[in-house]
Amino acid sequence: MARGRFITFEGGEGVGKSTQIALLAKALEARGIEHVVTREPGGTKGAEALRALLLSPEHDWGDRAEALLFAAARSDHVEKLIRPAIGAGTWVLCDRFLDSSRAYQGGAGGLGDADILELHRIGSEGMLPDLTILLELDPKEAASRADARDAGAADRIGAKTTDYHADVRACFRALADADPDRFAIVGADGSAQDVHARVLAAVDAMAAQS
Ligand code: TYD
Repeated sequence: MARGRFITFEGGEGVGKSTQIALLAKALEARGIEHVVTREPGGTKGAEALRALLLSPEHDWGDRAEALLFAAARSDHVEKLIRPAIGAGTWVLCDRFLDSSRAYQGGAGGLGDADILELHRIGSEGMLPDLTILLELDPKEAASRADARDAGAADRIGAKTTDYHADVRACFRALADADPDRFAIVGADGSAQDVHARVLAAVDAMAAQS
């Protein structure tokens, strides 16, 4: 049986990841490809419990505790859902993964990439996606989409400063530029269908390669 593929979607807040994941899932369905859609932090019972702790404004996690909790949630998700699915030939579409920790806690949070990768080595045996789609959008457009979605009630991380989010965007871009084999940078401007066509082209290029 063919191994499933592991595709992650990354980007700042409001770039349209969930819309694009739903459209890709539909396209895979039409092609008869078994797949699951999941998200981080979360995806399993334990990781969803950690998600509630991580995103609630009730807690004031420091950068280190935050990074450890994200890595713990990811570890459970990889072990219980992602690896078994891929082993069974199912494709996994994941809303955020390791690169969010590298951008939010590593670069913008100040922890450094080596530390985040070390946590990932311990937690998830360093598992990497086959393809990571980085959605990029003009920050003003992204902020207005995120505001419309959150209606003024952004989660603890979404509510951090504009500078923090600018750092996150720059980190994502640097990660993608440094690893063009794994990343596809996709412009998230235009209609959802325009963006979907770009996403499909990246997925097809990955499938043709491996
Ligand atoms: P979510 O509601 O999924 O936001 P979005 O729609 O923007 O993806 O909330 C996830 C938040 O957690 C988001 O602000 C990014 C942040 N995050 C990290 O800081 N580190 C991580 O490793 C992950 C997976 C998410």
